[in-house]
Amino acid sequence: MTMEKTRKGSDTVWHHATVTRLRREQLNGHRGAVVWFTGLSGSGKSTLAHEVEEQLHRLGARTFVFDGDNVRHGLCGDLGFSIADRTENIRRIGEMAKLFVEAGVIALTAFISPLRGDRERLRRRVGENDFIEIHCHCPIEVCESRDVKGLYRRARTGEIKEFTGISLPYEAPEHPDLLLESGTEPLQTCVERVVALLQQRGVIRNFEERNI
Ligand code: ADX
Repeated sequence: MTMEKTRKGSDTVWHHATVTRLRREQLNGHRGAVVWFTGLSGSGKSTLAHEVEEQLHRLGARTFVFDGDNVRHGLCGDLGFSIADRTENIRRIGEMAKLFVEAGVIALTAFISPLRGDRERLRRRVGENDFIEIHCHCPIEVCESRDVKGLYRRARTGEIKEFTGISLPYEAPEHPDLLLESGTEPLQTCVERVVALLQQRGVIRNFEERNI
């Protein structure tokens, strides 16, 4: 095992495992990657991430979904919805997802992640080759009409402050790796487009469905 100093002025050292990312990926038969879904609340990010995971799992891939509502109960339970807290939320999830990539896993994330700068920082931190940004584009009127959790209604009355799309901005990606019209495209079409992109990028190969 080798160790090297990684942080200035710190005695923290990074342990290099002998079981490397490449060896894990060889065992898994696919690459690790972060598939980052961004979009308004109610744009279908979570549904899509879980559906893509289902499909990848059936193909025999190792996957994990990080979901806004779940992560905010634990890892990011101390954070609210101010700009600063959202930036920290995204930073932590990005670091966690990066570790999953090292583990050879396809990490699918479903967070509003409204700030372009935060997402660009993520891309640099995770690495261009391993970061796939997918914009779930859905007009706010459609998200609001769905209002699964009743949050838009409460945001309109002012009961919920700092709500994305109502009282805080959503900065759409300028060059996402994939743009989905999640308000109109059928779910299955969206899933197929994501899986096709993962094949195109060499994250997964065209392997037979194993029925797991
Ligand atoms: S992010 O902006 O930091 O990426 P995240 O995806 O973790 O947000 O959490 C968003 C979820 O929290 C929404 O789907 C919604 O259910 C809930 N939520 C509660 N309050 C707000 C708010 N003020 N703005 C946006 N989402 C909120």
